[in-house]
Amino acid sequence: MPPVLGTLSRTFALGPAPFRRHMSQSDSSRSFRRRLARALFALSLPLFAGGWTQGPQSTFDTKGPVAASQLDVFYVTLWVTGIIFVLVAGVLTYATLKFKARSAADEHAEPPEQSHGNPLIELSLIAASVLALVVIAIPTLKAIWYTYDVPEEERDTAYEVTAIGYQWWFKFEYPTEQIEGAGNLVTANELVIPAGRAVRVNLRTNDVIHSFWVPKLAGKVDMMPNRGNHLWLKADEPGYFWGQCAEYCGESHAVMRFRVIALGEEEFAAWLAAQKQGARTVALADANATPRAQFANYEPMRPNAPGWTPEFDADPMGAWVAQQFPDKDEDPALIARGRQLFMEKQCMTCHTVRGHEGVGMVGPDLTHVGSRTTIAGGLLENSARNMHQWLTRPNDVKPGNLMWFGRTMPGYMRRVDGGPWEQNFTVNDEEGHALVAYLHSLK
Ligand code: CUA
Repeated sequence: MPPVLGTLSRTFALGPAPFRRHMSQSDSSRSFRRRLARALFALSLPLFAGGWTQGPQSTFDTKGPVAASQLDVFYVTLWVTGIIFVLVAGVLTYATLKFKARSAADEHAEPPEQSHGNPLIELSLIAASVLALVVIAIPTLKAIWYTYDVPEEERDTAYEVTAIGYQWWFKFEYPTEQIEGAGNLVTANELVIPAGRAVRVNLRTNDVIHSFWVPKLAGKVDMMPNRGNHLWLKADEPGYFWGQCAEYCGESHAVMRFRVIALGEEEFAAWLAAQKQGARTVALADANATPRAQFANYEPMRPNAPGWTPEFDADPMGAWVAQQFPDKDEDPALIARGRQLFMEKQCMTCHTVRGHEGVGMVGPDLTHVGSRTTIAGGLLENSARNMHQWLTRPNDVKPGNLMWFGRTMPGYMRRVDGGPWEQNFTVNDEEGHALVAYLHSLK
């Protein structure tokens, strides 16, 4: 146990039993102190474990100038307020111990002579407060100016993207990348950007207020209905970063995530070229071929189970690169069956698969969904098992999503002549496998 915790527990009378034997009128205050000590202990655990500088969403491990400038402001504020805390707490502790009543005579003693202020002390305190505020204000204002928009000298080389919040996923548009007949290049849940270049992110929302936050790069700025917001960010090096919606936006707010993938200039150009292509088609040599029917039996996903494997967690960038290539054991017949189901199950009315049948605008663009590392709003690793769960049991993964059957949402539901809402169709396990094969072929 770190020494400070030992001190803490002694201070709050948490010592071994003999020291706690004589409990009388102060029992309740002791039990309060014990609870307080336990709470402090729990709160301090991450500090002692060093966890505050680790993890994909730690703001203490910045990877770009915008997040770094925000962290600097935090540290200045922490130091100034920390020094004030130590001074005030020190004087208070000193006065409490020095002047406390030590006997019955002390208790009933006359109060000391009262004075009416000391101009020198009062003016010094005012001056010290103003100084402390100025020390905090200067870097704060500088950071506000700096993080508001791309600096003048970087404007010429800056890249521009538009992020749009939906309940509960992110759409990304590339206004400078036009596709003939289709407009902007559109992706979802994974924002790919050039590393080492300033990126201006226009922030929009399709429904309620969301907030765009990439802890290691920049944040947070709200995505407001009927109002254009923006931020800028820059990744110093190529890398794989976590993003998170940071404004409560409904029942699946906590699982509304995204990723930012920063690539070198050449890789970024290659990625753009690949994304501008229409959907990949896997040729079916024999029209009468049947799928190789060897399906894994997936265990249903447990609530709150981790959505990714330790291997993915260890090297997400490596996983992203691998995901750009077609799977080794593709089954053309199964993929063809999946493409057919994608129409029959009405997936195509909500999702776009550019070059194939899908034309919907309600859900994420799936033209290259097989090349993404995550699905379901950045919640799950894009593995066959996870996508199968997502398609067959969407409500287990993300409550309230539009594919959820079981409540009055469009998606899988239908209603005949004003009657009750009923399940329109389901995706059974076998159909799920075919749909996964099709979607994973969309590299
Ligand atoms: Cu979107 Cu919280």
